[in-house]
Amino acid sequence: MNNIRLVIFDLDGVLTETSKQHYLAWKILAAELGVDIDLEFNETLKGVSRMDSLDRILKRGNIYDKYNEEDKVKLATKKNDIYVKMIKSFTSDNLFEGVLGLLNKLKDMGILIALGSASKNGPRLLKSMGVYNYFDYIVNPAEVKGKPNPDIFLKASDELSVPVENCIGIEDAVSGIEAIKKANIFAVGIGSKDVLFKADIIYRETKDIDLEVIDNLLKK
Ligand code: BG6
Ligand code: MG
Repeated sequence: MNNIRLVIFDLDGVLTETSKQHYLAWKILAAELGVDIDLEFNETLKGVSRMDSLDRILKRGNIYDKYNEEDKVKLATKKNDIYVKMIKSFTSDNLFEGVLGLLNKLKDMGILIALGSASKNGPRLLKSMGVYNYFDYIVNPAEVKGKPNPDIFLKASDELSVPVENCIGIEDAVSGIEAIKKANIFAVGIGSKDVLFKADIIYRETKDIDLEVIDNLLKK
């Protein structure tokens, strides 16, 4: 195995189950605003920044023009407060099965590891789940354009000086797969083939990832 030199992980829905908590927190806030959101709509929120997610919810309820920027910041903060309470008790037990094994394998093989998440709660979650120190670089989502722009993935490749052809990105969101592909990086999808069909390879769960298979595909 010598093609993969950097793995850029998404966080929510790839390392841990937090895509569920994001959804539940948005659902509570949306209900207060009189907007109903369901799991199908939630697919369009995955990978999308906090403020962009709020905009999408307001547009869905046809109430986008009702709020000014200050109101929107308050609403987004309210959602984040609900979310942060939900993840307060997170420990290493909340890592998806196979994540620790995968991180250890990458370290043993000398492959670099980066976090390419849109979440500003990323570093906090990595710390509470005990895996912060595995990461050679964490992209600050406040500094780059959000997914589906490629910037988060390009930033990781650039900062760690690994050419895109030697990187892989792992994502559970449609917007994330789009971002990886725009960066000309090999895209690993975690989830349903019906949703993530633009990915180069798709696994049902993170524990199913086979690095040898991906490394061989990278050669082509
Ligand atoms: C992404 C999630 O990883 O981060 C989105 O998929 C979330 O659902 C986004 O909105 C921003 O997260 P946060 O924690 O900064 O609000
Ligand atoms: Mg995700």
